Amino acid sequence: MKLVVISAGLSLPSSTRLLADRLADATRRQLAADGHAVDIHVVELRDLATDIAHVMATGFPGSDLNDVLETVEEADGVIAVSPIFSASYSGLFKSFFDVLDNTALTGKPVLIAATGGTARHSLALEHALRPLFSYLHATVVPTAVYAASEDWGAAGDGADGLADRITRAGHELAALMGGRPATAENTESVVPFEQQLAALRPE
Ligand SMILES: Cc1cc2nc3c(=O)[nH]c(=O)nc-3n(C[C@H](O)[C@H](O)[C@H](O)COP(=O)(O)O)c2cc1C
Repeated sequence: MKLVVISAGLSLPSSTRLLADRLADATRRQLAADGHAVDIHVVELRDLATDIAHVMATGFPGSDLNDVLETVEEADGVIAVSPIFSASYSGLFKSFFDVLDNTALTGKPVLIAATGGTARHSLALEHALRPLFSYLHATVVPTAVYAASEDWGAAGDGADGLADRITRAGHELAALMGGRPATAENTESVVPFEQQLAALRPE
């Protein structure tokens, strides 16, 4: 199987690339457990920034960009990770998907993820990235993974921390790539509302 990992991080080292690598590893481990070998191809959009601007201005992609666009079209699954800039995906991330043929992701399993300076912008995944990939007719996995700066220090964390979310999203992508439904395991323990209200009542 072919898994293409797209990272739009700009820093060196890049937290976006780090998240992308951890998601790819979780997906690879689950695919291996399911008996599938996977070939992982990582694309750093930073290296293609000039080519992307050029194709947008002229309509002609350079050969490096063309190769990457073909690799994405041939992939069995895609992991797409953007840094959050001004409460949305970065311009470079959006431009890459603007130059990709708008049928290239049709029916393809795609895991979406993002990094940001603040946890308050995590919903950019739901109001920006998920609609973009829905428009492109991708099959977006249920769990989208957001890593704010504070999440990195707590990577070995408890239930529903970053490590758990990465594992769950990787399982879901591997399931879809292997032709199984991506059933989101609910690892959150929900306290019934009546119980929460009772705790607030004065004795
Ligand atoms: C121009 C710019 C705008 C940013 N806007 C936001 C933002 O709106 N919300 C947020 O949480 N982080 C914002 N950040 C922080 C980046 O999302 C964060 O540092 C990201 O993890 C950087 O990824 P990288 O290490 O892969 O380059 C912004 C950073 C830059 C440079």
